Amino acid sequence: MPRQLFVTTALPYANGNFHIGHIMEYIQADIWVRYQKMMGHAVDFVCADDTHGAPIMIAAEKAGITPQQFVARIAAGRKPYLDGFHIGFDNWHSTDAPENHELARQIYRDLRDNKDGSLIEVRTIEQFFDPQKNMFLPDRFIKGECPKCHAKDQYGDNCENCGAVYAPTDLINPFSALSGAKPELKSSEHYFFKLSDPRCVAFLENWTQDGKLQPEVANKIKEWFSIRTNPDGSKSEGLGDWDISRDAPYFGIEIPDAPGKYFYVWLDAPIGYLASLKNLLNKRDQDYDAYMANPDLEQYHFIGKDIVTFHTLFWPATLHFSGRKTPDNIFVHGFLTVNNGEKMSKSRGTGLDPLKYLSLGMNPEWLRYYLAAKLSARNEDIDFNADDFMARVNSDLIGKFVNIASRAAGFLTKRFEGKLGHVSEDGAALLHQLRIEHTPIEQLYEAREYAKALKETMLLADRVNAYVDANKPWDLAKKPDQEARLQDVCTVCIKAFRILTCYLKPVLPELAAQVETFLQIEPLSFTNIVDPLTAGHVIGTYQHLMQRVDVKQLDALFEVPATVEPAQVATEKVASKKTAPTATPVDPTAPGGEAIAPTIQIDDFAKIDLRIAKILSCQAVAGSTKLLQLTLDAGELDEAGQPKTRNVFSGIASMYQPEQLVGKLTVLVANLAPRKMKFGVSEGMVLAASHADEKAEPGIYVLEPFAGAKPGMRIH
Ligand code: MSP
Ligand code: ZN
Repeated sequence: MPRQLFVTTALPYANGNFHIGHIMEYIQADIWVRYQKMMGHAVDFVCADDTHGAPIMIAAEKAGITPQQFVARIAAGRKPYLDGFHIGFDNWHSTDAPENHELARQIYRDLRDNKDGSLIEVRTIEQFFDPQKNMFLPDRFIKGECPKCHAKDQYGDNCENCGAVYAPTDLINPFSALSGAKPELKSSEHYFFKLSDPRCVAFLENWTQDGKLQPEVANKIKEWFSIRTNPDGSKSEGLGDWDISRDAPYFGIEIPDAPGKYFYVWLDAPIGYLASLKNLLNKRDQDYDAYMANPDLEQYHFIGKDIVTFHTLFWPATLHFSGRKTPDNIFVHGFLTVNNGEKMSKSRGTGLDPLKYLSLGMNPEWLRYYLAAKLSARNEDIDFNADDFMARVNSDLIGKFVNIASRAAGFLTKRFEGKLGHVSEDGAALLHQLRIEHTPIEQLYEAREYAKALKETMLLADRVNAYVDANKPWDLAKKPDQEARLQDVCTVCIKAFRILTCYLKPVLPELAAQVETFLQIEPLSFTNIVDPLTAGHVIGTYQHLMQRVDVKQLDALFEVPATVEPAQVATEKVASKKTAPTATPVDPTAPGGEAIAPTIQIDDFAKIDLRIAKILSCQAVAGSTKLLQLTLDAGELDEAGQPKTRNVFSGIASMYQPEQLVGKLTVLVANLAPRKMKFGVSEGMVLAASHADEKAEPGIYVLEPFAGAKPGMRIH
């Protein structure tokens, strides 16, 4: 019976790009989803940006843009990561989308209006308020002196110096981290979810301890139900009520019938799972309510160990007491560290930059394979180790698996026009051994025991390699009377390779697709057990399926980037065209008089926004023999939608008369910080070529694009 699965990963905060920890979570879930699809099950695999909350609001304000613009920028950068690592979400959405606003408000109303008694309670609490910013301050935006050890500049919730945990009101000389102002205590009405309600406690005790959760996760949760001793010695009850509201200004969803009150981000974030699903179903013209009402629907969330409370207490309670279906399970993974590095910072990540990995031409399926080879169903940390990575990919994936095809395919193509032959008894026995392993391997994928599934598969690959070594096709090829045996042995290898590829396909989808093309077969799945590789089947020409990891790539991956010359310095050099600084004398053998600059990555280049611009007008600058003043059209519009121009000063007067340039197209560095010069503000820089030694070889040449380019086009 095909199952209907709804699967998500945690919704990443829309305050930064992905780091390798995010990618690990997505790969873990993606493997599981691909496995389920190969079993013939229907899966909807969705995610979204987690957009709300004070930190994003404050970051947007600092950047001088709206929170909506801020999160849109982050969202625009997601695709290269997801496509790059073959992560096949069926939908990517946003918690700020209308579906989420609507769902969050409805779920809240259902909790509030619960027929057995409301789960929402309004209470007045006292909180620090920033009188300058006119807002209540989240704990992490209040600083002051630690009440225990008197370390200065500590956060409102705990001391980084002595580890003490306290309330922000305990701080000595507290101040707002936003404005520096002395915060005032002010009371405000807050909305609470009554988790301490006996109905809630009973429900959650059962939901978390009924055996579905990973044992180590369930055990940890048990502690939260009992009476705990706080670090300061005080005792607290198991489940406290949960404060789900925040006061304006807040980037979030307004609470129904409570003007100026917003849902705390963690109330609406998991609802984003449902919103993303709803958005997907809408696109497909499918009814969301009917979909959710299906009693056989299974719902799973993959998350990291740091957000277990939200997913095993708040989230099921929110769903259950609003009359909705609760998740069938929460799959918790540990953290990824890099090269034994300390735990990566949640927001920054360290060590392994996913886009840099891709830009170095490193195969994304190496990483998928390596992580899968380390992942189990347990909530435990795993480490990316560069040497281990290279060994596993090169000796297992390539040495044991890929090589089976390369060893056999050549003979079949050269000697038998790619035609497969008959298989004799010993080969059939080997293939049988491989085939019967499909059930245990499927079960391991189902249980998220990927390391074990790959280990089993590699043991099977060992058997195939032993068969190759015993039969030595390269020797058979030299004996004219062994033609038939050669075809038999190579056929066995290719058939074995197909089975192994199927077992690896959830982890290596692209490699599997290449193999399907090479073998000229339909997409591999776990449901189609008929072997299409019968005698007489013709396979395609073998093309190398996968390169080995080169140690140079790993060196480059972990190389600390050289500091880049600030843009302002570059402007200076071009604008006034001084001779090269004495510290770096002109090298006459170097091209154009200067050595090629240190290597950058594609994402360094992507930071420079180069645009085609039309020179609308051009004038000499009174008082300067070097500069021309250009008015450029780079296809931009102002707030009123009117064409906007740029004013740029360029040190090219020695080479061009103003009228020569008018009407021409050139290249503008469009995102260079504006620079105040003696004659006015230069809003960018046009590109021009020159020799490093102006005296040895004078001349500066403005760049002009080929015909067809239009103002505003970006140069990639
Ligand atoms: N926005 C919340 C989740 C809301 S879900 C309704 C959040 N975002 S996050 O960007 O900080 O983290 C997203 C996911 O990445 C979480 O599951 C988190 O555990 C995971 N990881 C963050 N750092 C990680 C590692 N170093 N290793 C593995 N996963 C890690 O939390
Ligand atoms: Zn302290």
